[in-house]
Amino acid sequence: MESQIIEIDVTEWHVAVPNQDWITGLEAGKVLYFPRLPFELLPEERALLRPEIRDPKIRNISLDASGHLKGAVGDTATQLALALMIGRFRAQAQSLVYSLLPKYKNALRLAPTSYRPTQVETRTQSWRADDRRLHVDAFPSRPNHGERILRVFSNINPHGAPRVWRVGEPLKTVAQKFLPRAKQYSPWQASLLKALHVTKSYRSEYDHLMLQLHDGMKRDMSYQENADQVTMPFVAGSIWICFSDQTSHAVMSGQYMLEQTMHLPVEKQYDPAASPLAILSKLTGRQLV
Ligand code: SIN
Ligand code: FE
Repeated sequence: MESQIIEIDVTEWHVAVPNQDWITGLEAGKVLYFPRLPFELLPEERALLRPEIRDPKIRNISLDASGHLKGAVGDTATQLALALMIGRFRAQAQSLVYSLLPKYKNALRLAPTSYRPTQVETRTQSWRADDRRLHVDAFPSRPNHGERILRVFSNINPHGAPRVWRVGEPLKTVAQKFLPRAKQYSPWQASLLKALHVTKSYRSEYDHLMLQLHDGMKRDMSYQENADQVTMPFVAGSIWICFSDQTSHAVMSGQYMLEQTMHLPVEKQYDPAASPLAILSKLTGRQLV
């Protein structure tokens, strides 16, 4: 398999000139990896690196666009320090993405920024929620009608532990394996799910098929072991960026990560024909949204 990782030796949160090979690679589902681009913690922020700072009832700590912090326990000073740290990461992640991908700049919609202090290895969850299995991101309650999920990750582990991912094969290959096994789409069921508020909006056939890929991959243990893949240790003090609805990924170990999600309309990509929507439409021969 052609390498799915593009390593970039940049040390600033802003690149001087956009690079077409990186853009094409990213839009083809590759991971842009910046091994020497640390998110710098202030000395007093080291105290925020402990798993108990997360409210156990909530999966991740997050900061929304209006500065509202969710999922953290602790006094006002702790909450403020968390909001400042996460907010600073958000600003740096935006600056990096805008300089790498200037065409996206005015089209991106920012999701809340998350801080994940939990150790990956000890998390227990159902197979469907288990991100230690290769998958592409697709969320049952949040249909996106083809809108892209771009994510910036930073490993801020203070003990030098890498965040270890597995990165799998290109989406077209995944889809060729799992589309034939996908359950048929039912517009009637999609209407019902929306009426019952199970989904936040109408689940299009695209959303249905993406969930079928997500579930099909995670459910199939032989695929998990035998699919083309590389193990990728993202070192402490690094950044990586990918379209997580396109890059087949699994997280195997690590602790302390910051993450920024940005949503992009398909038509604002450099090459909309590289998108999952275009790939799945072509393979099925149908308009999916
Ligand atoms: C995921 O998106 O599957 C999780 C990534 C991570 O926690 O490193
Ligand atoms: Fe994921």
